[in-house]
Amino acid sequence: MTKSRTLIEVKAASYSYKNTKVLSDVNMTVNEGQFVAVIGPNGSGKSTLSKLLNAILLPSEGAVTVDGHNTADSSFVYEIRKTVGLVLQNPDNQIIGDTVEGDVAFSLENMGLLPSWIDKIITDVLSCTGLSDLRNKNSRELSGGQK
Ligand SMILES: Nc1ncnc2c1ncn2[C@@H]1O[C@H](COP(=O)(O)OP(=O)(O)OP(=O)(O)O)[C@@H](O)[C@H]1O
Ligand SMILES: [Mg+2]
Repeated sequence: MTKSRTLIEVKAASYSYKNTKVLSDVNMTVNEGQFVAVIGPNGSGKSTLSKLLNAILLPSEGAVTVDGHNTADSSFVYEIRKTVGLVLQNPDNQIIGDTVEGDVAFSLENMGLLPSWIDKIITDVLSCTGLSDLRNKNSRELSGGQK
């Protein structure tokens, strides 16, 4: 069996908010096709680690690479953020579109995709997440789970 490609590599990474160290010497590898769950108590650093994976935060020590690109190299930030999406805990802080369709379209429009291609992607992702019936719904009128 061929070894799958390494997409995310965290090497001896630490992170401090001001003088408080919240991640210490973290090592992690995620290969293409893998599903990985990071679990731990409240305040243990899961969200902080997530933010290191797409260059929202940079490690204080060590390194994070995404598909071979070091997150500290600002010239790769666009590529890194196309590879590592991040869904934060509070949906109200990250819904931008007036409708479900418009919200899904937002990042695709920013990437400059053709409208016909955006329409196809919206149809596909709403179908595979079971949200097709909500396509034209006002995003402020969704339930917590639907958001
Ligand atoms: N912006 C910040 N400034 C200072 N300290 C922070 C900041 N964000 C988080 N922290 C602290 O860093 C530690 C890790 O927080 P983090 O949000 O990564 O935890 P978490 O594992 O995601 O927790 P939860 O399960 O509650 O979501 C906590 O002690 C938290 O108080
Ligand atoms: Mg968290």
